[in-house]
Amino acid sequence: MEKARQKLIVALDYPSLEPAFEISQTLAPLVGMFKINIQLFTAAGPAALEKIRQLGPEIFLDLKFHDIPNTVTGAVASAFSLPGVRLLNIHTLGGMEMMRAAASVRDASKIPPAQRPRVIGVTILTSMDNAALKNVGIAGPASRRVVALARLAKKSGLDGVVASPQEARAIRRACGKDFLIVVPGVRPSVDGSTGRAAKRPKDDQARIATPGQAIRNGADYVVVGRPITAAPDPEAAARAILEEIASALP
Ligand code: C5P
Repeated sequence: MEKARQKLIVALDYPSLEPAFEISQTLAPLVGMFKINIQLFTAAGPAALEKIRQLGPEIFLDLKFHDIPNTVTGAVASAFSLPGVRLLNIHTLGGMEMMRAAASVRDASKIPPAQRPRVIGVTILTSMDNAALKNVGIAGPASRRVVALARLAKKSGLDGVVASPQEARAIRRACGKDFLIVVPGVRPSVDGSTGRAAKRPKDDQARIATPGQAIRNGADYVVVGRPITAAPDPEAAARAILEEIASALP
């Protein structure tokens, strides 16, 4: 179970620190990382990391930086000084120079290499389909762009990417075994509170997979939000997901 726990990232998609901290207290023994996004960070700032980090699990700082290389260099340096950050992300569409700038901050960090935050890339937002891409002048299909951008991220020195469960396998093939793949859009097959097959609401996720499928497709980490945080019994939901992860591990 310890191996499975390390692979589970719970998304704290909350408007303020209080509810995020409350659920984190319940879930801390069961998760490897908590994910803090732009909503919570904009509302609560570094205090969110300081408080949540004290519970044990590390932090995935999901702020998706996308700016000129000089500005991203500064932002990544600031993120490296926050407590408990294990993963942080930037947009690959910011270009190679921007990605290289972020990787340089990591490489120059005084933090011992094994404990340094890993810098990962967002390829194409899963909310964008081929038509939405065409609208902004990017030729599709999205799936091909995703793999090309993952390769570019690797070439630029990033540690990995965020990817949908459907893209994970192709990215693993293209980028090799040491490239981190972090997979959201995960929906459990078992309902933790009843032990029966889950109803699996998709919410607004278009491309979903079970935790087991995501791991078998090559995910190093799975990101789960509402299936745990909005469950009647979040702890039971997290335990059921851990079991699904554990049973898919080699
Ligand atoms: O509640 P749910 O499990 O859908 O939450 C998934 C989390 O992963 C959210 O924080 C969401 O913003 C994030 N995410 C995602 N799809 C992506 C990238 C990030 O759902 N492609």
